[in-house]
Amino acid sequence: MTPTSFQPGISSQEAMQLENRYGAHNYHPLPVVLSRGEGVYLWDPEGKQYFDFLSAYSAVNQGHCHPHILSALNEQAQQLTLTSRAFYNDVLGPYERYITELLGYDKVLPMNTGVEGGETALKLARKWGYSVKGIPENQAKIIFVKGNFWGRTLAAISSSTDPSSYAGFGPYMPGYEVIPYNDLPALARALADPHVAGFMVEPIQGEAGVVVPDEGYLREAYALCHAHKVLFIADEVQTGLARTGRMLCCDHEDVRPDILILGKALSGGVLPVSAVLCDDEIMLTIKPGEHGSTYGGNPLACRVAMAALEVLVDEQLADNAARLGERFRARMRALIEKRPDLLVTVRGKGLLNAVVINDSPESDTAWRICLQLAEGGLLAKPTHGNIIRFAPPLVITEAQLEEGCDIIESCLLEFPK
Ligand SMILES: Cc1ncc(COP(=O)(O)O)c(C=O)c1O
Repeated sequence: MTPTSFQPGISSQEAMQLENRYGAHNYHPLPVVLSRGEGVYLWDPEGKQYFDFLSAYSAVNQGHCHPHILSALNEQAQQLTLTSRAFYNDVLGPYERYITELLGYDKVLPMNTGVEGGETALKLARKWGYSVKGIPENQAKIIFVKGNFWGRTLAAISSSTDPSSYAGFGPYMPGYEVIPYNDLPALARALADPHVAGFMVEPIQGEAGVVVPDEGYLREAYALCHAHKVLFIADEVQTGLARTGRMLCCDHEDVRPDILILGKALSGGVLPVSAVLCDDEIMLTIKPGEHGSTYGGNPLACRVAMAALEVLVDEQLADNAARLGERFRARMRALIEKRPDLLVTVRGKGLLNAVVINDSPESDTAWRICLQLAEGGLLAKPTHGNIIRFAPPLVITEAQLEEGCDIIESCLLEFPK
């Protein structure tokens, strides 16, 4: 059979039918098809316009199709896209210098997806554990916290406490211990084991429902790690790159992670680009041939990542996120007062926020609200049955944010309980 080639201009209905018929059923998307994006807006094939209040899970902090990023992409795509790391290329070095100078680390290891960044960080921690800390061979331990999410590989789901992530995929990775989040005494107990090499944590848990730890948790956790010669590994794949109102979420508590993992917005939503940053004592424990990826550090990704970082800095997107995040939560608090039967709380930092619905996690209320919001022209996605995350691109203006809040308000005020 001759395969049917790409046909532009298919309808929403056709697009959904094709995905359903020919694609794996490993996602449950809202019934909205998107065919164009610009800044904070998305459009479906029929021309309906939406506010994007998900930003591809915080990958599109710079807004859809940012011209500075696209021009870097187009320019580099004409020149050279991939050589593999069998050779040097003339963009990787300049990118490595830029990102390490910007974020204040000795070195960077470039990868593609966020989960590969996590895997890389754990391999670095184990290697450091054996060669620097002196942990006996094959006995290194990594501490995680409940509710963590760092992707879908076997190593990642092995640390998960969510059955929909791990159930049916065993056996799991050994050498892990999972403790409660936001619990310093539990961390102190876990760190007493001299075989612990690293503690991996999201400064705010994104997929768990924008769970913000107590003020001081990160600072104290970092101090505890250092007292026990354990690496503090920050998974800033979702919280990093201006999303929470600072370049890194750890900056809110003046914590400089020993190992920093970035992804998502590192390309502004253009390509899968991730990175792991740390100092020489850790990074140089991995020697040539011991880790890598065909696409990691490719010239196209490096040019795009540099442009994506430049946009965050030049457009002061962290400041915008901090300022408009306050406004968003103020609007949501006012709304919660009007609908306490439906809404419980709003939480978050910068423009990473969630509203908790007054229903059980097993309910479909958040899903139904999101359908209603889409109807009204705003896209958001439930995390669990009773939490809705709101994370618009950080290029959003005050007027656009107010308009988005108006849509949320009118939808929620009318929503039947
Ligand atoms: C905190 C965090 N870490 C890692 C990942 C995995 O990133 P990716 O889906 O690019 O592998 C995610 C994805 O949502 C995430 O939120």
